[in-house]
Amino acid sequence: MASYAVKTHNVEESRMRVGVLTGGGDCPGLNAVIRAVVRRGIKDYGYEFIGFRDGWRGPLEGATKPLDISAVRGILPRGGTILGSSRTNLMKIEGGVERVKDNMAGLGVDALVAIGGEDTLGVARQLHDSGVNVIGVPKTIDNDLNATDYTFGFDTAVNIATEAIDRLHTTAESHHRALVVEVMGRHAGWIALHSGMAAGANVILIPERPFDIDQVVKYVESRFETQYAPIIVVAEGAHPQEGQMELATGEKDAFGHVRLGGIGQALAEEIEQRTGKESRSVVLGHVQRGGTPSAFDRVLATRLGVNAIEAVHEKSFGNMVALQGTDIVRVDLSEATDTLKTVPPERYEEAEVFFG
Ligand code: F6P
Repeated sequence: MASYAVKTHNVEESRMRVGVLTGGGDCPGLNAVIRAVVRRGIKDYGYEFIGFRDGWRGPLEGATKPLDISAVRGILPRGGTILGSSRTNLMKIEGGVERVKDNMAGLGVDALVAIGGEDTLGVARQLHDSGVNVIGVPKTIDNDLNATDYTFGFDTAVNIATEAIDRLHTTAESHHRALVVEVMGRHAGWIALHSGMAAGANVILIPERPFDIDQVVKYVESRFETQYAPIIVVAEGAHPQEGQMELATGEKDAFGHVRLGGIGQALAEEIEQRTGKESRSVVLGHVQRGGTPSAFDRVLATRLGVNAIEAVHEKSFGNMVALQGTDIVRVDLSEATDTLKTVPPERYEEAEVFFG
């Protein structure tokens, strides 16, 4: 039977100072984690907190922000992150790890809670290997982090994309147009898969499965034949089978990721040219990442934050808190960052039933 013990904290632990940072692309729910970490840490363990600004730039440059109960009041439903974020890759900066260690020692920071995706947590893992006390919290609207069933931010993004597709259905039908909706998802098509399934897309294109443009055109034509306007949902990282279409490539960020965008427009042009039907593209872009988190994401983010502090308390460093089933568990940071969680073929096949 579960027991409900009253928490006490000893003096030595009360001196514990914990740094918190948010790195990578922002996502709805980050503030909910920060709030949960701070509230739990102060209430149950008497910890002190320091906010590091803009991801790894904070500990690298000693850029901080006060983080106490008053700083986290009212932030649960707010999108973005009160700490700021960046894609600073400190592993690419000479002496970066030593600077972080020196700044942490100077500020009296004993442990770090790093909230981020594959890049931020990849750095967290390397820092832990070099002796820094780190706990990771998974975030990304892309839902592509391994060892966790869902990341917070994903549910909100899917809801935003679904609502957008629902709206596009009615205008596409009125004008007998094909509409191509480009959603985020660099390496994994989770947002495309879920929003496309939820909103009844004509076809869903994801990075994991290079698409056959001839087949896409057939789906579009069959939808027009039934007097129904086709909606094509495409993840920004999706690409055609080799040699089928020419695509432009963009610049790279500090983690070597190409800045994507453009597949939706290229696809709309190709469809229009091949079918003779007017085709337009809509890029949902950062709308999917901004604004207030869904209830699901607020609860998930809060549970992850509460459990991250429990992991700090138990000195379970080098781990990431994760959702598995309905439980929050701890997994090694390496398990979370070694490979990406991509859409398995059988999940795509379920969606394929409704194509065309
Ligand atoms: O990692 C989340 C994400 O939103 C991806 O889906 C997208 O490819 C990328 O970030 C965009 O990043 P930025 O806002 O830095 O261009």
